[in-house]
Amino acid sequence: MLNRELFKETEARLRELRVVTRTSADGRGTVSFRTFVVEAPFELAGELNVGKLMALETTKPNTYLITEVIDFVPMHFGLVNLDGSVPRELRKNVLENVERVIKEGSLDEAWLEVFASHVGYIMEAEGDNVKFVKGYIPPLPASRVYLFTPQAYSRFVSYSEGVRIGNVLNENVELRLNLASAIKYHTGIFAYTGSGKSNLTSVIIRKALESIPSLKVVVLDVSMEYAVLLLDVLYRMNSRLAITDKLPANEADAERRLVRTHVIPEELSVYREEIKKVFGEIFKQGKIRKLYIPPQGVSYLTYGDLIAMVRQMIEDKYTSPSQKPILQLMIQRIDEFMRDKKLDRDDVLDETFKEVINEVELKARESGLRETATIFSFLSSLKAYLNSSDIIREDYDIDALAVEILDSDESSPRLFVVEVPNLEEARLVASSLINNVFMRRKKLYSNKPQVLFVLDEAQEFIPIDARQKDYSEASSLAVERLLRHGRKYFLNGLISTQRLAYLNTNVLQQIHTYFLSTLPRPYDRQLIAETFGVSDSLLERTLDLESGQWLLMTFKSALPEDIPVFFKAENNSDYLKNFLEGFRSSGKRAQSPNT
Ligand SMILES: Nc1ncnc2c1ncn2[C@@H]1O[C@H](COP(=O)(O)OP(=O)(O)OP(=O)(O)O)[C@@H](O)[C@H]1O
Ligand SMILES: [Mg+2]
Repeated sequence: MLNRELFKETEARLRELRVVTRTSADGRGTVSFRTFVVEAPFELAGELNVGKLMALETTKPNTYLITEVIDFVPMHFGLVNLDGSVPRELRKNVLENVERVIKEGSLDEAWLEVFASHVGYIMEAEGDNVKFVKGYIPPLPASRVYLFTPQAYSRFVSYSEGVRIGNVLNENVELRLNLASAIKYHTGIFAYTGSGKSNLTSVIIRKALESIPSLKVVVLDVSMEYAVLLLDVLYRMNSRLAITDKLPANEADAERRLVRTHVIPEELSVYREEIKKVFGEIFKQGKIRKLYIPPQGVSYLTYGDLIAMVRQMIEDKYTSPSQKPILQLMIQRIDEFMRDKKLDRDDVLDETFKEVINEVELKARESGLRETATIFSFLSSLKAYLNSSDIIREDYDIDALAVEILDSDESSPRLFVVEVPNLEEARLVASSLINNVFMRRKKLYSNKPQVLFVLDEAQEFIPIDARQKDYSEASSLAVERLLRHGRKYFLNGLISTQRLAYLNTNVLQQIHTYFLSTLPRPYDRQLIAETFGVSDSLLERTLDLESGQWLLMTFKSALPEDIPVFFKAENNSDYLKNFLEGFRSSGKRAQSPNT
């Protein structure tokens, strides 16, 4: 017996199974989806909606197949077989008749055709004992249909102990996530322009900072919007606003410039004055830094580059044979050093490497090489390079930023909004920052703090056609590295974009939590349907979503079970309005003595 508090018994019954087969998004194979057609009493219309979960009896006792409603259509007996071949007068007559009886409420001959998709689960349930198991068992023909009640949603779809990010659509049930786990397994937000990506990203950031004490968040902002979207967090929390313009000279300059250069969402435009004042406060709090970005074209020497150089010298026929053993030794020592410090070929040389240079130099001297041998000039030019990179370092550069990000001291900043409106510079910053943080993390032998990198407009950082010239190759490799290997080091990614087709999709499998809203292109939807093995029809429902409404799909991360769920997200602007309203009234109070 099913627990009636959790599952509502209905008069609806399974009538048909349909299988749809289509070509896969990459055109290389085919995929099939099952759709179940359920016949339901007309009166059930009020309780049905897209996304509603239904349990169907299966061939195994006490075992149910979980399905999700993707559409439902009212039907009437009179309309069956009423097509163009029926004479027009007769059609008109039938249609008018159907209209009349439905309006009169005589619904004996009307019903609902409900279309539902399998979500990958079966449920073993007896009374209060309910267990979800991945898999598929065919439902019984004419199986009775049970609807999930709000209690069932709270218990099986939402994480009761989790962080609230909105409400399940049409259910009046809070949606709570295991946000720590979602972040750990990387997050993707995919939706058409204006669907609310930046808004949801900001909600996730503020909730994550609030609920995960060891977490730091780094937003790489190319559209100058997050300083406003997270203004209250910047103001209240230890944080950093890194800009590429010159630093404001004083508070008034900061207010004027920052409010002018930032995007203010329309619903917050009435708070322009307050936003301006808060920017001034953030300046006074000393949270703003000018980020030094190396001039374009400057790139740093990596261990991979160095090994290639030494190898080339060994292979070069003009290098005297007497130097070759020392060069071989150098490669060995680089290799040992890298293993010792857990460095990759992509990591950048820094001053700690001087110990290897000195050692090789000593060996070269001991072996009696002449002072004019090329190896000595090579080693001293390496040293000069390492020294000069110390000298040109400005106050707040990528290194300093990386150090601050990884600082586990409680007084160090937790939110970093790094504004780089120039796309080429943004890619350069993304790649050097991510690689730098990786290198330090490996050297420090510590996994604290956990770091979340946020890349809105991700197609700019990981485009499908990455090029060396505009640094998209470098940023693409770095972001791929973050998504593939970051988890081991507690380095995580949240990426957001409006078109999957423009993205290097190699990384999609690494992301376990997807927030989806309207995706107008079939290709984008098909790609996701295939990634999760759910039917196209479910993804098609994203076309009906309004701004702020989302379909959440997870793979062993944010939710107790991987059931796709439609929800309305909290509105980030509400937090800001609240804060700015408070700021306005406290400002008034401060002024009142003068008036
Ligand atoms: N959760 C929400 N509740 C209410 N309104 C919302 C919500 N999310 C977004 N909106 C509305 O939608 C508008 C667009 O949101 P947002 O800027 O976040 O979209 P976007 O997907 O990032 O767009 P773009 O592609 O232009 O970057 C917001 O200004 C807001 O009015
Ligand atoms: Mg946006």
